[in-house]
Amino acid sequence: MKIITLTYETGWHEEESQGYKSYRWMKQKSKCLLKGLQTKGPRQLVIKGGHPFPKEKNPFLSVYANNEKLGVVEILPFTNTYLFPLENTSEKIEIDLELDSIFQPEISKDNRELGMVIEEIKVYSQEASALPQVLELATSTLCNINPPCVMCFTRIFDIWPYKGDLDKTAFDNLIPFLKEFQTISLHGIGEPLLGKKLFTILDNINTDTTFVQFNSNGLLLTEEASRNLIEKGLKLIDFSIDAASPETYKKIRRKDFNLVVNNIKRLNEIKKELGVKHPEIKMNMTLMKENLPEVVSFIELAKSLEAKTVHLGLLNPFKEYIINNAGFIFNYQEQMLDTESEVFQKTIQEAQQKAEELGIELVLEFHKN
Ligand SMILES: C[S@@+](CC[C@H](N)C(=O)[O-])C[C@H]1O[C@@H](n2cnc3c(N)ncnc32)[C@H](O)[C@@H]1O
Ligand code: SF4
Repeated sequence: MKIITLTYETGWHEEESQGYKSYRWMKQKSKCLLKGLQTKGPRQLVIKGGHPFPKEKNPFLSVYANNEKLGVVEILPFTNTYLFPLENTSEKIEIDLELDSIFQPEISKDNRELGMVIEEIKVYSQEASALPQVLELATSTLCNINPPCVMCFTRIFDIWPYKGDLDKTAFDNLIPFLKEFQTISLHGIGEPLLGKKLFTILDNINTDTTFVQFNSNGLLLTEEASRNLIEKGLKLIDFSIDAASPETYKKIRRKDFNLVVNNIKRLNEIKKELGVKHPEIKMNMTLMKENLPEVVSFIELAKSLEAKTVHLGLLNPFKEYIINNAGFIFNYQEQMLDTESEVFQKTIQEAQQKAEELGIELVLEFHKN
C-alpha cells in the first residue's frame, strides 16, 4: 500500500488546533506537495477549509496542480469542502494556492498575513482507499419548519449565509464517488425531504453496498415520497419528534404532531403492503426541560410506530437566547439539562426499563453540559 504524504512547503503559518480540529492558516500564496497518490481512475483534489469572518468580503482562491489551473472558487465563511477534478495522473502533485485578498489586521485582530484556514488537503480516487467511509451530505439547508424549531441550530447560526438546495457543482463532482462509501447520511442543517436532488442522489448510490439514511422531521413524508424512498433502497429514517404529545410537539416543533405520526403509520402500511423491511424506523428526542417528563411515553410511542431504536440526545451547549413561540417562552440556558441531577438520572433509568420491556434499542448520547 502506498503511503500518501502531504508537505506544507511555503506560505503557511504553524498548525493550530481547537477542540478536535486542527488547521493551518495560509498566507496569500502557498504551496504544498502531495506524494504517493494512486494514479488510476477519476481523482479529485479536496480542500476543506474556510474563514471565520462571515460579515467580510469572501476571498477567491485559485488552485493549480503541477502548474495547471484547476479552478477558482469563492471561499465561504466557516468550513466547506471544495472539490476539483484532477486530469493529471501523476503520483506527485505540487499544489499552488493563491488568494485574491487577505484579511486585514483590524478585522482579524491578528497581525499575521491571514488568507484562509485550511483543515485538510487530499486527493479522493476511486481506486484508493483514500475516501472516508462515511459521507454526510445535506440535500438542503432550508427547512419546512420556518420559523425553525425552538432549539434548532439554524436559529443559532442565523448568520449562516448559504441557505438553499445542495450546490450543483458539489453534487456533480460527487456523483462518481457515491458508490464508494459504506454509509451515506443525507442530512445536515435543514430538512432532507426538501432537497430537490434527494431522489437523484439515491439513484446514484448502490444501496446493496452502502447504508443510506437521514434524519427528518417527517412532515413532508407523503405516500408518494414513502414509496419512492422504499423503491430507491433507503435503509433508515431517523424521525426527530422530540415529544410524545401534540402540545409539547407544538411548543418545540411548532407543527401538527398527528401529521408526522400518521405519516410514519402510512409508511409502515406501505412497507407491509410491499413486503419490505426498509427503511428501518428510528426516533429521536433532543432532551430539554420541557420534554423530559415525556421520555417514557416517547418510548411507548416509538413501539406503537414500529421503531427499532430510540435515540436520546441533549441540547448542544450554545449561547443564550430566549424566544416566544406562541406564548411558550423558550429559554435555551434554562432548558439545558443537568445530567447529574436526580430527576434526569431517574427519568433515564425509567426509560431504560421501558425500552427493555418493549424490546426497543435505546441509544443514549449524553455529553456533560
Ligand atoms: C438540524 S436537524 C436536521 C434534520 C431534520 N430537519 C430533523 O429535524 O431531523 C438534525 C437534528 O439536530 C437536532 N437539533 C436541532 N437543534 C439542536 C440543538 N440545539 N442541540 C442538539 N440537537 C439539535 C434535531 O432535533 C435533529 O434531530
Ligand atoms: S426540522 Fe430540523 S432543521 Fe428544521 S427547524 Fe427543526 S430541527 Fe431545524
